[in-house]
Amino acid sequence: MGILDEDVARYLESLTPDRLDVLLEQEDMARKRRIPIVGPIVGRWLHQLAHMIGARRIFEMGSAIGYSTIWLALAVPEDGIVYYTDSDPTNAREALRYFRRAGVADRIRILVGDALELLDQVEGEFDLIFNDVDKHQYPDVFRKAVPRLRRGGLLVADNVLWGGRVARGETDRETVAIREFNRLLFSSSDLLTTIIPLRDGVSVSLKL
Ligand SMILES: C[S@@+](CC[C@H](N)C(=O)[O-])C[C@H]1O[C@@H](n2cnc3c(N)ncnc32)[C@H](O)[C@@H]1O
Repeated sequence: MGILDEDVARYLESLTPDRLDVLLEQEDMARKRRIPIVGPIVGRWLHQLAHMIGARRIFEMGSAIGYSTIWLALAVPEDGIVYYTDSDPTNAREALRYFRRAGVADRIRILVGDALELLDQVEGEFDLIFNDVDKHQYPDVFRKAVPRLRRGGLLVADNVLWGGRVARGETDRETVAIREFNRLLFSSSDLLTTIIPLRDGVSVSLKL
């Protein structure tokens, strides 16, 4: 998956410094079980973004086995919090084991259910919201997430170039939804957005 030339992707990965054994293990597990995680290049980018804005409160929508959650949790201070959300309780149980091993379990709150509904149930503003739910839900995520960000906060979304399909005029439900999400991001006067063409495309929107 992705839009990056394979040699370029390999090169970028070769530049990536050593990471926790737990993350390497999750990458291996994701490869074997075909779990679509963000991988080390985007994981590190999420980590960097959270650091750049001094994030303390992060809400992740669509967390699977908690790989991207760990990258984010490693960027918040010890009294910070990252909300993990996934609709599958088996994923959540597996993720908790990884969080403990990564030493970040105390900074992560695990919520099981629909991430869009869970966002409504958690009070307060967020410094960063990371969107990685089912792609047909992306426009709804836009509507729910933007009002929940503080000024200077970030809405980040994975897969916004969707293997290039968004650019080729394809009309399946997921591609149409992602294209609409991107249009909403770029036409909002509340946001300043850039799409970074890493892996499968990552949008980064600053709340103005
Ligand atoms: C792409 S994977 C997440 C990968 C994870 N962000 C990472 O990079 O390590 C998407 C996950 O979101 C979950 N999911 C999809 N739509 C959801 C929703 N509306 N609410 C909660 N979980 C959702 C799926 O069960 C799946 O585990």
